[in-house]
Amino acid sequence: MPWEDILVSSKILGHISSGVYRSAGGALKELVSNAYDANATRVVITTNHPSFDIITCRDNGDGMTKDEFVILMKGGIGESRKRIGYDKTKDLDRPIIGWLGIGMLGIAQVCHVFSVTSHHRESKTAFQATIKLIDFLHEKIFDTSPEREKEDLDVGKFSIEPIEFIEEQCGTYIVASDMRSAFVSKFRGFPGNPLPSKFTVFLDKIHSSRSINELGDYWQMIWELSIACPVPYIDSGPFNWVNIAYKKEHRESFNQIKKKLQDYTFEVIIDGLSLRKPIIYPFPQKTYDGKKLKGELFFFSFNEKIYGRPLMLQGYIYLQNGRAVEPFELRGLLIRIRNVAIGLYDSTFLKYPKIEGPRFNWLSGEIYVNEGLESALNIDRDSFNEMHAHYVKLQKITHNILASVFSQASQGVRKRSQSKREKEKKQRIKVVEDILKQEFGTEYGVYFSEEINTEYPIELDMERKILIIYSNNPIWPRSKTMLEQVQFSATAFEIAMSHSEKERKEVFYQTLKNLLSN
Ligand SMILES: Nc1ncnc2c1ncn2[C@@H]1O[C@H](COP(=O)(O)OP(=O)(O)O)[C@@H](O)[C@H]1O
Ligand SMILES: [Mg+2]
Repeated sequence: MPWEDILVSSKILGHISSGVYRSAGGALKELVSNAYDANATRVVITTNHPSFDIITCRDNGDGMTKDEFVILMKGGIGESRKRIGYDKTKDLDRPIIGWLGIGMLGIAQVCHVFSVTSHHRESKTAFQATIKLIDFLHEKIFDTSPEREKEDLDVGKFSIEPIEFIEEQCGTYIVASDMRSAFVSKFRGFPGNPLPSKFTVFLDKIHSSRSINELGDYWQMIWELSIACPVPYIDSGPFNWVNIAYKKEHRESFNQIKKKLQDYTFEVIIDGLSLRKPIIYPFPQKTYDGKKLKGELFFFSFNEKIYGRPLMLQGYIYLQNGRAVEPFELRGLLIRIRNVAIGLYDSTFLKYPKIEGPRFNWLSGEIYVNEGLESALNIDRDSFNEMHAHYVKLQKITHNILASVFSQASQGVRKRSQSKREKEKKQRIKVVEDILKQEFGTEYGVYFSEEINTEYPIELDMERKILIIYSNNPIWPRSKTMLEQVQFSATAFEIAMSHSEKERKEVFYQTLKNLLSN
């Protein structure tokens, strides 16, 4: 087989020079997206953990023809044709993801050589190609000499040949071998455990870590893929509705998003693990004092034209009042365009301008952008041009909703500290009641009176068997802890006064001691 040059227009390389895919997860995300666009219902990825020397990706999609592939290699990179005349895939109604035509190049980030085998459903033809990328891709890209500007650049070599078509193998199979050492050594350094075969086990492990970092690069990559790909949520997630406050219509809106993802019937299996979105709230399920954790859901949607261009989105912010979301990688806001995540969770919420301290840790949200914003994407598909009108609008929408979420959160804090105060007061009363009972051998009631201008701040009425505390008496200190001590002392004093002069001192200190030690 002869080897031919792979040509990429220098214009595109200029764009790519910022380093398209910063992680192996990013490269795999592109392969998965391509399979999705090609109507695959299943993608199977293997990484050969823990040696990571061969990565394969097989899909059961429509495949491509040899001619299509050759066009791609000979300057077609950087010019996607997928969306010409279509916005969604035919049968499964999936919004098409690809549009830049550089996703395949991402795999070059992790290997020196890869092969593509494809069996094309429609034409019943098949081919196999081997692609070798030059080693100094980056240097070449950064080369700004004048000759470079003129023509398409060769970034490597490829060879291609037709092979026998096999119906059962319809789809595309990519094998990346001769992995780049930077990638291999990073992953081998901390391969972590092999993946479990059940997603719930994976999820438990993820959620019981404070940070996914603790699980190593490999697990981190799997997590990133599960966050990013258009796979469904877990059946019982992401919200445990029993412990979440929500509006009925919001639950319905969210369930529609959930159902849509299910209807795309897209499965991604990596090293035997079938991926779902790894999100379940509330999490952790218990508060620090062992009670069930509660959350609150804020749903929002937007559908307007910004300078003539439609922006349509839906999203939610989940507030886990008083308890940080774990693992911390879930804190923040994740933006999805056409169901694919852009970058990771943004813990600044698109640079929210006010300082809210630890409250930011109580929040996790997702935004599904169905239309617009795409042209604000930087070429890495991982970040935005922050000057773009759609981005600026999105920022405004997010910050407005966040402001109302924070005000709700403050109410929650107030409520919680109020109920804590009430609880403490009840405990205090109980202590006094117990002492009174012990002292007089019968039940006494403790009452707070709002009466003003009383002579004494406290009164022990032995006939009615009550102790009255006049809350408005100016003698009571304002400080909470002082108030408790002074009220206890006064109570001890009143009890002591009911005894003979001889016993008084003894009773006073004994009672005070008992009250304070409770
Ligand atoms: N898994 C696949 N199945 C079928 N065709 C594919 C697959 N991967 C890539 N292709 C073809 O290669 C082209 C280039 O892919 P890519 O570089 O990711 O660009 P884009 O997805 O933006 O079109 C795609 O437009 C598609 O025609
Ligand atoms: Mg693509």
